[in-house]
Amino acid sequence: MNKQILVTGGTGYIGSHTTVGLIEKGFDPVIVDNLSNSKIEVLDGIEEITGIRPHFEKFDLRDKVDIDEFFKKYPNIEAIVHFAASKAVGESVEKPLLYYRNNLVSLINLLEAMTAFKIPFMVFSSSCTVYGQPDKLPVTEAAPFKKAFSPYGNTKKISEEIIQDTIDTNPFIKAISLRYFNPVGAHSSAIIGELPLGIPDNLIPFITQTAIGIRDYLRVFGDDYNTADGSCIRDYIHVVDLAKAHVVAIKRLLEKEYKSNYEIFNLGAGRGVSVFEAIRSFEKASGQKLNYRVVDRRPGDIEQVWADTSYANEELGWKAELSLYDAMLSAWNWEKNYRQKGKETE
Ligand code: NAD
Ligand code: WQD
Repeated sequence: MNKQILVTGGTGYIGSHTTVGLIEKGFDPVIVDNLSNSKIEVLDGIEEITGIRPHFEKFDLRDKVDIDEFFKKYPNIEAIVHFAASKAVGESVEKPLLYYRNNLVSLINLLEAMTAFKIPFMVFSSSCTVYGQPDKLPVTEAAPFKKAFSPYGNTKKISEEIIQDTIDTNPFIKAISLRYFNPVGAHSSAIIGELPLGIPDNLIPFITQTAIGIRDYLRVFGDDYNTADGSCIRDYIHVVDLAKAHVVAIKRLLEKEYKSNYEIFNLGAGRGVSVFEAIRSFEKASGQKLNYRVVDRRPGDIEQVWADTSYANEELGWKAELSLYDAMLSAWNWEKNYRQKGKETE
């Protein structure tokens, strides 16, 4: 029988790509999502790509009663990949309690259920946001946490601490936190990708929406940083590479290859890319000139961060393989496909 894995937030951006990755490696994923930031049609996309429709249960992980009912219905679940969370940095500043409740209560409920229902393994979605502006670049997993710039970022720091404290007193639970840098791109089929709800905050969706004509121009937030071309530097990681790392992490837990009960890995491409370089890469991949203007710095932006991925590369035997060009091309194909579908259903 295929091993059953709970994927919370599995209809979301990274969760949907990971569900595809799990199915392709012979797992039997069960998605739980409240569809607060994703659409049910994503299940059709996953089925179209893999030929398999994953199990799906719609409920809110803040509800403990629903969680208990769920695990009674699915007694064979062996591990959890926990993506479900609210993730908009700006919204978290306006509604901090919503973010603390959603991101922390959902995690606490799941950790309690793991003991109650004897599920030992969790892979948790963390973020490079826990490093703030690191003192040394590239940043390793050993770098200290910095004060979070937003309540969202703080939920990731606190979540990691909750997991650590839980495991310290309850060694039955084993977990891996994966600190993502900047996930970008889409599945090569252009059937699943990042769903643009409202005006995007993130660079790549804003670029593709500008190129397709929904936005007039991209605002480049500052060209006076202390970097080679003056714009900020990030580590953009293709979502398909990211998805593969989750499958590796799940196998590591199930096959008991972990070195300690709680492990943490950076997931990035290991390369710093400036905003101008990202624009040039998009222009090359899409064959389109991008309309952009340099404006003031965005409050809260850090200047530069990229990952030292050597620990993940050596320990997980995983490495980002897809390029920035691949990411831009897939993001552009996804944008075009998504808009085309929208027109067809109008
Ligand atoms: P997403 O919003 O596309 O996916 C999250 C999914 O969780 C959504 O489908 C949403 O409907 C669901 N969800 C939210 N709260 C829920 C709840 N209480 N109960 C059930 N379902 C709920 O986000 P994503 O980009 O796929 O991110 C996945 C995870 O990775 C999140 O934890 C996010 O914080 C983390 N992360 C994302 C990024 C990024 O830039 N995308 C970077 C670092 C870390
Ligand atoms: C990337 C670069 C901007 C938009 C955020 C969260 C972080 C993590 C990933 C979850 C920056 C510049 C952007 C635009 C621009 N998420 N930019 N014009 O800020 O690195 O990280 O997403 O954990 O927590 O903070 O990503 O895509 O918003 O920005 O010039 O319209 O692009 O200044 O340098 P960021 P981003």
